Amino acid sequence: MALEINNVLSWVLFCLAAMISTIFLKHRKSCYRMKWKLPPGKMGLRLVGETLEFYKAQRNNRLFEEFVEPRIAKYGKVFKTSLMGSPTVVVNGAEANRFIFSNEFKLVISSWPSSSVQLMGRNSIMEKQGDQHRFLRGLVTSCLSGASLEALVPKICNAVRLHLDKNWLGKDVVSLYRSTKLLTFTTVFECLLGINVEPQMLGTFERVVEGAFAPPINFPGSKFSREKKARVKISKMLEKIVAEKRKATESSLEGEEKRDMLLSRMVAAMVRGDLTEEEVIDNVILLVFAAHDTTSFAIAMRFKMLAQHPHCYSTILQEHVDVKNAKEPSEKLALGDVKKMEYTWQAARESIRLFPPIFGSFRKAVADIEYEGFTIPKGWKVLWTAYGTHYNEEYFQDPLRFDPSRFEEFIPPYIFLPFGGGPRTCAGYQLAKLNILIFVHYVVTRYNWSLIHPNESITMDPLPVPSKGMPIKISPKLS
Ligand code: HEM
Repeated sequence: MALEINNVLSWVLFCLAAMISTIFLKHRKSCYRMKWKLPPGKMGLRLVGETLEFYKAQRNNRLFEEFVEPRIAKYGKVFKTSLMGSPTVVVNGAEANRFIFSNEFKLVISSWPSSSVQLMGRNSIMEKQGDQHRFLRGLVTSCLSGASLEALVPKICNAVRLHLDKNWLGKDVVSLYRSTKLLTFTTVFECLLGINVEPQMLGTFERVVEGAFAPPINFPGSKFSREKKARVKISKMLEKIVAEKRKATESSLEGEEKRDMLLSRMVAAMVRGDLTEEEVIDNVILLVFAAHDTTSFAIAMRFKMLAQHPHCYSTILQEHVDVKNAKEPSEKLALGDVKKMEYTWQAARESIRLFPPIFGSFRKAVADIEYEGFTIPKGWKVLWTAYGTHYNEEYFQDPLRFDPSRFEEFIPPYIFLPFGGGPRTCAGYQLAKLNILIFVHYVVTRYNWSLIHPNESITMDPLPVPSKGMPIKISPKLS
């Protein structure tokens, strides 16, 4: 109850702040009207813009159907609105996506809510621009390509097998969503970063991640203040880990295998003076945030689609049985085996198209932008959405139908956007892909499973989450 009162109080304070900024923006709006041709659309109620409609649609997990789609029908693919106190232009369609993504850092920069920035830290990759962004991105992707990617496969296999032995063996029912959250956490920490997961780490991290989109109202006892405390706790935990790693790096005590892992590479960059300790810590936290709910939701929806499409499931099962039969029983998979899982990846992409874990993302105009005869004034937000192309007949025929064969064909750029686009395309794409394929492999070859609630609804929190955690009934396969 106290928690609820805190939440309500946080929202009231947040709305007041939004109102004040909206009054300010209203004043500026009349200036805009005189100077520029703005995109069509409504700025909404005088004080809160269209924020309430946006949140209501988001709560129903119908942000596209109830907010974006009706406005596209009325105003076209590019329209203006006002959200959370900011005048915003929502862009939809391949051409608008291309324009925004290819002008990253030139005309637009990423624009995350203040709570995300405070909890993830000001030094994370999502706040960096230009050369600093390129450097950090290079570090992350270097651990997810070439020889590092090959080395990652057996590590993830190990993590998945241990996870299933520890958390599934002997059980009749497991929560698929919670299970994959724990697994993703472990793969990011142990397989990508090279940090051993200690008890309590996940709980503390989850508290921080949960607050990333909450109103940033920080008074004693508020939800956000508790999330900030969790962030301080994590920073301290990571400071210790980074100090130990620094010692090992400086005294060259680390084995070759560990030296190739992301934390070691970041600490080596810190020793050379290319990164600060804050940058290392903020980026470890950001990676967990970026990987956590996204991968778990993608896997949960993957299984939901398999349950609803038995023909697709039997094709996938055969693909995995073939891969398994070509190996010794205790042999781990190699990158070459994962590459054989072509149909599984087609079907995974199709379920991510229908249920993108990230609705879209905000940018901020850093200059007046001219687009299709309209102006997006400097300082306005720009929101690109995945649904704007994923659910559009122009790009995907019969868009609401689940049809993995769409991905047999080449998909033109800027229409399939679950991983974003341009210089900020998901840096963890390869890890997400391996996590999904390897997890599916071990589950379908080792377990019979069925959904307990086939029609379980999805809630937004604010990322999509299966409302009951997607419990599944499981039984081990005999051979
Ligand atoms: C199915 C799983 C995933 C989905 C759907 C996903 C989606 C996305 C999207 C849409 C963006 C772009 C955001 C924007 O344009 O503002 C992004 C960025 C990012 N993702 Fe992922 N992601 C997933 C998994 C992961 C994993 C496993 C990691 C790494 C451990 C990761 C790390 C990142 C990072 C570091 C960025 C920021 C890139 C930059 O700013 O240059 N993601 N992701």
